[in-house]
Amino acid sequence: MMVGNNALLVLIGLLCTLLGGKLDVQAISDVHIVLLEPPSFVQRNELLQGKMYKDQGAFSKVRDMAMLHRSLLEQSHNNILQEVFGAEAMERKLYSYTYLVNGFAATMSSQEAAIFRRIPKVIRVEKDSKMEKLTTYTPTYLGLPYKAWGKTSPSSVGGAGEGIVIGMVDTGIDPSHPSFANTTSNPYYNPKYFTRHFKGECEAITNEDQQSFCNGKIVAAHHFAKAAKRSGLFNPTVDYDSPFDGDGHGTHTSSIAAGNYGTVVQVAGMIFGNASGMAPRARLAIYKALYPSFGGFYSDVVAAIEKAVEDGVDILNLSIGPSRPPRGVATFFNVVDLALLVAVKAGVFVVQAAGNLGSSPFSVVSFSPWIFTVAATRHDRTYPNSIILGNNSTINGLGLSLGTKGTRMQSLVLAKDAARNYTVEEIALEECQGGQNFEKDEVEGKILVCTFTLSFLIGRASVKNVEATAKELSASGVIFTISSWMQGINLHVEFMPVEIPMIIIPSASDSKALLDYCTGSSLKGLYEQPSGRIVGANARYSHETPRVASYSSRGPDPATFNFRAADVLKPNIAAPGSYIWGAWTPHGVDAEDFEGEKFALLSGTSMATPHIAGIAALVKQSNPDLSVSGIASALSTTAIMRDGKGSSLLTEDLLSPKRSDLATPFDVGCGLVNATAAMNPGLIFNAGYKDYVRFLCAVDGAAGEVKRALGKSCASIGASKELATNLNAPYITIAALEGRLTVIREVMHVGNSTELYEVSVKVPEGVSLEVSPSIFMLDCKEAQRLEVTVEPSSSRRKSTPSFGSILFKGSHGHSAQIPVVIISTSAASGKH
Ligand SMILES: *[C@@H]1O[C@H](CO)[C@@H](O)[C@H](O)[C@H]1NC(C)=O
Ligand SMILES: *[C@@H]1O[C@H](CO)[C@@H](O)[C@H](O)[C@H]1NC(C)=O
Ligand SMILES: *[C@@H]1O[C@H](CO)[C@@H](O)[C@H](O)[C@H]1NC(C)=O
Ligand SMILES: *[C@@H]1O[C@H](CO)[C@@H](O)[C@H](O)[C@H]1NC(C)=O
Ligand SMILES: *[C@@H]1O[C@H](CO)[C@@H](O)[C@H](O)[C@H]1NC(C)=O
Ligand SMILES: *[C@@H]1O[C@H](CO)[C@@H](O)[C@H](O)[C@H]1NC(C)=O
Ligand SMILES: *[C@@H]1O[C@H](CO)[C@@H](O)[C@H](O)[C@H]1NC(C)=O
Ligand SMILES: *[C@@H]1O[C@H](CO)[C@@H](O)[C@H](O)[C@H]1NC(C)=O
Repeated sequence: MMVGNNALLVLIGLLCTLLGGKLDVQAISDVHIVLLEPPSFVQRNELLQGKMYKDQGAFSKVRDMAMLHRSLLEQSHNNILQEVFGAEAMERKLYSYTYLVNGFAATMSSQEAAIFRRIPKVIRVEKDSKMEKLTTYTPTYLGLPYKAWGKTSPSSVGGAGEGIVIGMVDTGIDPSHPSFANTTSNPYYNPKYFTRHFKGECEAITNEDQQSFCNGKIVAAHHFAKAAKRSGLFNPTVDYDSPFDGDGHGTHTSSIAAGNYGTVVQVAGMIFGNASGMAPRARLAIYKALYPSFGGFYSDVVAAIEKAVEDGVDILNLSIGPSRPPRGVATFFNVVDLALLVAVKAGVFVVQAAGNLGSSPFSVVSFSPWIFTVAATRHDRTYPNSIILGNNSTINGLGLSLGTKGTRMQSLVLAKDAARNYTVEEIALEECQGGQNFEKDEVEGKILVCTFTLSFLIGRASVKNVEATAKELSASGVIFTISSWMQGINLHVEFMPVEIPMIIIPSASDSKALLDYCTGSSLKGLYEQPSGRIVGANARYSHETPRVASYSSRGPDPATFNFRAADVLKPNIAAPGSYIWGAWTPHGVDAEDFEGEKFALLSGTSMATPHIAGIAALVKQSNPDLSVSGIASALSTTAIMRDGKGSSLLTEDLLSPKRSDLATPFDVGCGLVNATAAMNPGLIFNAGYKDYVRFLCAVDGAAGEVKRALGKSCASIGASKELATNLNAPYITIAALEGRLTVIREVMHVGNSTELYEVSVKVPEGVSLEVSPSIFMLDCKEAQRLEVTVEPSSSRRKSTPSFGSILFKGSHGHSAQIPVVIISTSAASGKH
């Protein structure tokens, strides 16, 4: 459709040109983002967040300076636009960016873009493109990790996150949801009473019957849709021209990060326990830039990020990413990553989903070291259910429903035996997708036996339709059998809570036994009819070792291999992302199975990320002095590679779902988050904006780009000779180890008393590794420089990664661990 329109518009453009007419802005336009030479406001001002100003006078001085600097930048944008477009300039411009980056978004043809590229002050012109929501929605049988996480959160979970603002760049929010209500027992007051640094607000309501978004829990709400509207894809009926969530995604993830404590989850008439956000007292600031009908545009997203950072959010949760990993120098210098680098400088902790392109290597879509990247794990909690057959034997299955009424046996009827329309193929009949295909008399009061086929997994058939079919025919319940070839497939996918008693039999042999029973081949007496009753589901924890979900994107970071020496570990951490209950808007269109519901069970790295955003809020609350990288470090060094029983984390393979290998740092980064331990980390690896600039200078071929994009010459900061691997990150990644190498780290002690640390090492296969010093004593806030020396050993196979770790064990119970990832290369094996 886009293509068709464009072709038409080009044609109109041509006609206009031929007729000597003036080109219509809409007709020729594509949005482009034009970046100009720095500095933006933040790049120029080392201190800018309100929280850093002790007195009002100093604060207003900086604010006045800010206004001046930014209006000058904006004026320069307008001047450039006027030079090129004349009187049309202001019509063409969508946004001026002045806070994090210096640039603007405007509609222009590719010829016009070329004109801008030739202007000396212009450092980059990027054609705007669409961004993706990083979700897979897979309603399932499992859920409620909240409870498990509740236990590891501080005892006062009800107050956790107080005073912290989490910014959400997503599809908006449904402010009427109980997860975001101003609870009467413990009301939320205007943010100026709890934080001085946050200065966001809610955009004005245009529509009389809309409610205001700001209610004490939600402290800011804006939407950014200029590019979306210019594109012609914006549809106000589903996309809503306000911060309201017409999708469901943003409401869901907001509730995972900061939903109110003790919100009862009720779906399809059943109660599935209580939900709580990771940081239930944190406030939410909503910056809507993604829309249900088309996703989002970079230029709207950058505007949203600028506003979030300017408002003063503490933590920024990002649901956006390129649809595939970028290549070349743009990896670190695309406009979003640049804006986020400057956001880090402004003191904002940025969390981003790893992506849902797993399980093949190099599939992460979040790659810059200043962003904290989250992978998703599966935590098994099942809802076992069973059927008792008329012959008194029991068949086990799974379900998210109540049982059939009482203990009375109900007749079983196979879908194909109740058919009315014989033109429908048998396989389609057995999927029970419509009441019109069946004789109601044959089904009424009976349990209908249907088949769970591939169509359910790919979305051609839905459980919601089966439920509707059963209701229409007045069936008393539904049994799903599976065919033998489905046996290997992970069947705890694609399910949802239902009002009709329903069970799925995930074993092929049990399915066959049930079918035999129904067709009478195993019935004893001549007059015996197949019958049974469904018992009803109850949540049960299977206590299996957590596994990295197959969809979760995997490292290594593509940048590590584009620039041989980028040496970045991605993802950084893992958190539960599969089968997560969260708030939902009844108007949501993202997951059909939950239409009209107030809660939904979803999966994706999108669901894992707000867990980390919420836990980061807790870390910040209990350690207010930690820097942005300090928060990342606390989460990283306390993450676990073994579960509570000592079993190593596992990882799933998309192509062979039954197989589970041991997880490596390319699956989980530093490991699975341990919220309790992250609150009290002991040692911290700090890195700031300048360190990231040094890092970029050390990356092959990036020095010129640093000068252009950040306004710093690498030589001037004396960084050109450094190794990228010396970025003071809570991991060591060496993408190309060719000989003996010494890597530098510096740790700072943030415990409250002097502590003695002892170093122990798990040496990666095929190298030698030594840490010096191997024992040291630190006072509070004291730092220690460490030298980590690695050398390949001769037995080593080239180019295969090997994994190890370094553990710092403190005398007062702190322990910090970092992963070590080493890839030895020879000159000949540089290709991947
Ligand atoms: C939250 O509710 C309390 C009690 O009803 C009320 O006093 C307070 O003003 C509300 N907060 C906001 C920001 O509206
Ligand atoms: C769930 O929340 C409700 C109301 O908020 C409360 O009455 C109930 O005790 C809670 N249940 C559990 C298991 O925490
Ligand atoms: C099943 O068990 C019940 C109660 O134990 C018994 O009354 C009934 O006869 C049994 N039915 C069959 C078919 O064995
Ligand atoms: C029977 O099914 C076919 C194929 O789905 C459909 O085209 C036809 O309209 C149906 N007939 C009736 C009477 O429902
Ligand atoms: C009841 O029927 C099932 C299904 O055909 C069969 O596997 C089982 O052995 C039968 N149980 C008894 C007690 O006959
Ligand atoms: C938080 O980030 C995740 C992953 O980046 C995203 O999927 C989710 O929608 C975000 N939530 C909000 C409310 O912004
Ligand atoms: C998480 O951290 C806490 C506190 O350090 C520790 O007691 C607990 O064992 C850790 N959990 C796991 C699964 O290792
Ligand atoms: C030091 O920290 C520990 C753990 O956080 C805490 O239990 C203890 O009270 C603190 N001591 C002081 C003197 O603050």
